Amino acid sequence: MKEFSPLRSRRAVFFTWRKQVGLEAITSSRPRPRVMGWAMILLSFGVLHVETAMGQETEAYFRQNCMSCHTVGGGRLVGPDLKNVSKRKDQEWLIEFVTNPKGLIDAGDAYALAMKDAARGVIMPKIPGLDKAKAAALLELISRESVLEKSQFAGLHITDEPFDASDIARGRDIFTGSLPLENGGASCLSCHHVTDIGLFGGGKLGPDLTRVYERMLGRKNLASWLLSPATATMRPVFQAKPLTSDEIEGLVAYLEDVAKAGGAEDATPSLMLFLLGLAGAVLGLMLVDSIWSYRFRAVRRPLVGEIV
Ligand code: HEC
Ligand code: HEC
Repeated sequence: MKEFSPLRSRRAVFFTWRKQVGLEAITSSRPRPRVMGWAMILLSFGVLHVETAMGQETEAYFRQNCMSCHTVGGGRLVGPDLKNVSKRKDQEWLIEFVTNPKGLIDAGDAYALAMKDAARGVIMPKIPGLDKAKAAALLELISRESVLEKSQFAGLHITDEPFDASDIARGRDIFTGSLPLENGGASCLSCHHVTDIGLFGGGKLGPDLTRVYERMLGRKNLASWLLSPATATMRPVFQAKPLTSDEIEGLVAYLEDVAKAGGAEDATPSLMLFLLGLAGAVLGLMLVDSIWSYRFRAVRRPLVGEIV
């Protein structure tokens, strides 16, 4: 009798499934079918893993999922300052709100509607994986942080004074990477364009940041956003290599300056690349053509000459 092996049986299921969906027919004609199949499976596990690992540490969870919109004792960002939130509403209500913000707003709850107005109509998103237990843990953490002199979630204090030219220049150097990031993160320019950067501009993976200062409604929001970016690409890139507060200040100064200079976010760099590519192709064709027409003439002339 064969002993039961969960691994083997899972593999068996996988191979049957592969046969059923016809994947085998496709992949086995390829040079390395196994590797491709497993790479795809590993990739999907990787994605799942990112989702579950989020639930491990309440503090890290708050930092990653809440701090882009909330501080504890640092004033309002997009969402209200959460200091002493448990004194404003009871636990049950808060858990219900946090796990399904839109639900209470749609139900016409007066307190929730007033909050929405104060947030200029922004509705708190439903955070994936945030269940009641997690919400309770988060509220407890917020209560603990609320009694501290300065919470670790107070956010950045960013000056209200105008930035000077040296702040802006430093920010530009940080953006382009000529001043390397202290914690070793990738330069912004490798993924982002800003109009002031010139002909070929920055990378195309991320959005054009020329007007992001306005999109984020100013210094404070932009700075907090950069302190703990919560989006799909930015989070993994800067979670382990966070920007320092000095770097954030420089970047905010630079992005504010760029936005105020009034450049438009447009497709110029890609259009330039396209036109240059086109010009290159035309030149290439002319070159080939001139070579071939020379050969052509060289064959024809003597023939014509012979007849005449
Ligand atoms: C994209 C921004 C955003 C994120 C991210 C976000 N919130 Fe909110 N939150 C809001 C806004 C905006 C409100 C105000 C109500 C509304 O307009 O929906 C709010 C309201 C709240 C309230 C009620 C505050 C009060 O004064 O009664 C709590 C509690 C709360 N959020 C907790 C959290 C927690 C915990 C997280 C992370 C798991 C989180 N929020 C993530 C935007 C956000
Ligand atoms: C590996 C590529 C990559 C790097 C490096 C990178 N970003 Fe991003 N960034 C993205 C992508 C992609 C997005 C779109 C949201 C997402 O998927 O994370 C984004 C979004 C943003 C946003 C929000 C834009 C919006 O319109 O909502 C800001 C602000 C931002 N990045 C700033 C920066 C800054 C500042 C740096 C340098 C310190 C930087 N990024 C470096 C890829 C990158």
